[in-house]
Parts: sequence; C-alpha cells; structure tokens
Amino acid sequence: MTPGRYQSFEAVAGDYDLTRVIPNALLAEITRLLSREAKLAQGGLFLDAGVGTGRFAAPLADAHPTQIIGIDIAPAMMARIHRKSVPGRLSLAQADLQRLPFGDGVFAGVLLVHILHLIEQWPLVLTEVRRVLAPETGILFLGVEMGGRSALIDFYYEQARIRALLPRSLGAPGLAQVLSYLSRPECEGGTKAQVTTLDLPRLAWRRVVPITRTLEALSRRTYSQMWAISDAAHQDLLAETRTFARRTFRRPDAVEVLKSRFVIHTARWIP
Ligand SMILES: C[S@@+](CC[C@H](N)C(=O)[O-])C[C@H]1O[C@@H](n2cnc3c(N)ncnc32)[C@H](O)[C@@H]1O
Repeated sequence: MTPGRYQSFEAVAGDYDLTRVIPNALLAEITRLLSREAKLAQGGLFLDAGVGTGRFAAPLADAHPTQIIGIDIAPAMMARIHRKSVPGRLSLAQADLQRLPFGDGVFAGVLLVHILHLIEQWPLVLTEVRRVLAPETGILFLGVEMGGRSALIDFYYEQARIRALLPRSLGAPGLAQVLSYLSRPECEGGTKAQVTTLDLPRLAWRRVVPITRTLEALSRRTYSQMWAISDAAHQDLLAETRTFARRTFRRPDAVEVLKSRFVIHTARWIP
C-alpha cells in the first residue's frame, strides 16, 4: 500500500495558532461536547487524528480525566503543544493517518479537524478511523470552522483563482463529498455510517483582527492553499492585496470583525 501524498505543515507550525483562533470558553464548550458524545466519563480512549498544535487535544486533556492520544505527520506542529499547559494524560506520536498505529476498536472517539482536504487518499483515513473505533459505540467527530474569512484573504484567493494559480484540492474536494462517502453502504465494511450534524448557536464567535495581522499572515504564506503558488506570483498577489486593503480600509490600523462558527458532524457505524 502506498501512503499517498500529503501537505507538510512543518514550515508554518510557528504561525498556525495565529491563523486559527477559537476563544478558550468556546474550546471548553467544544471539548465538553466531544467528551459527552464519546462518553469519555466512562474512561474510553480518545484520538485527535492530525492533532497539529493541540488546539483541541490540549484543552480536552486538561478538562477530562481520560487518556487522549494525538498523532500527526509533522513533529514541528506537535512540538508547539509542549509550550502549552498540558497534563500527562495527553500522549503524542508521529504517524500517518493513512496507517494508524493502533489495534482494532480501541477508541471511544476520534476527532478530525481540517485534515481530509490535505490527504490525497482521504477515504483511506476514514477506513482507518472506522477500524480503530470501538464497534457500534465508537464515534467519529468531523469538526469544521465555518466563516471567519478575512476580505483580504478572499481577495488574494480570488485573484489567484482568476489567474488559475490555485491548485485543485489535493485531498477531499469538500465536506459534502466526505459526508456522502460516509453515507455509502458499500464504503466501510458493508455498514453505512449514521451521520448527525451539530450546528449549535452557542458554538459561534466573533473575532476582531487587525488588517496588518492578516497581511502579515498572507505574506508568510501561512495558508496551505498558497503553498503551490510561485514566489513571483505570490509577490504580485500580495502587492495587489495591499493596494486593495488601502482602498477598502483607508487606515492602516483598521480591523475586521470576523464571524465564525464551529460545526461538528458525527458518524457512528451501527449495523
Ligand atoms: C490544518 S492542520 C489541522 C490541525 C488540527 N486538527 C487543528 O484543527 O488545529 C492539518 C494537520 O494535519 C497534519 N497532517 C496532514 N497530513 C497528514 C497525514 N497524512 N498524517 C498525519 N497528519 C497529517 C498536518 O501536519 C497538520 O498538523
């Protein structure tokens, strides 16, 4: 079996948490919800697959007396976790999600957030997740942050799209395809997943972001879709985005108010 291609986050580990900010109170709410749905109070194991900088695994391990395991292909991303206050019940390992280094049926819950669009053979990841989840009771959480995109980032991507500079998504084309794949009876050992969506008003927030910070993140190419754009094309796009920012916001100290929400899709395979 070939492991397939994936995109490396090694180079952007230091910037990652600045691009994806969820307020702590909301993270606590999300972790409570994961814990409740996966019944972690009963002591089951929980896997954050593609743990990154531990945005979810760290507060989960902090709040719940259960064993949390985080795996990721990029050690530099996981190294950021050690800078956070994390209790001993969070264990980390480098591994490829396409070949999970665990036995069958060991996890009460598995979390995937912003992962499947990055991995060419994303259905393989779902097959592996299904394999390591406890039969019938195990639950997959697909978390998605919706909205919250800066007008400057939208402008940069739109210009890149017009010039055909944006690569096709390496992995899953979109959430709709993932949910439809999960619902196919033939895809996972003959049982289709029961998929539920938790789109809760209380999992919404606003963020005030200075335009200087967004321009800085763009200039450092923190977002994975930008990595395939050549240096010269990136510099042109950046210059145009700066002009757009001056025209639109007028003041260099302007801020944007970005509205986001966190939506959780759950899947259980119940024969
Ligand atoms: C966009 S980040 C999301 C991190 C985290 N789930 C979050 O929401 O903050 C994607 C993560 O997936 C990891 N990743 C990508 N392909 C992977 C693979 N094949 N196996 C394991 N991790 C992978 C990257 O290294 C990166 O840390």
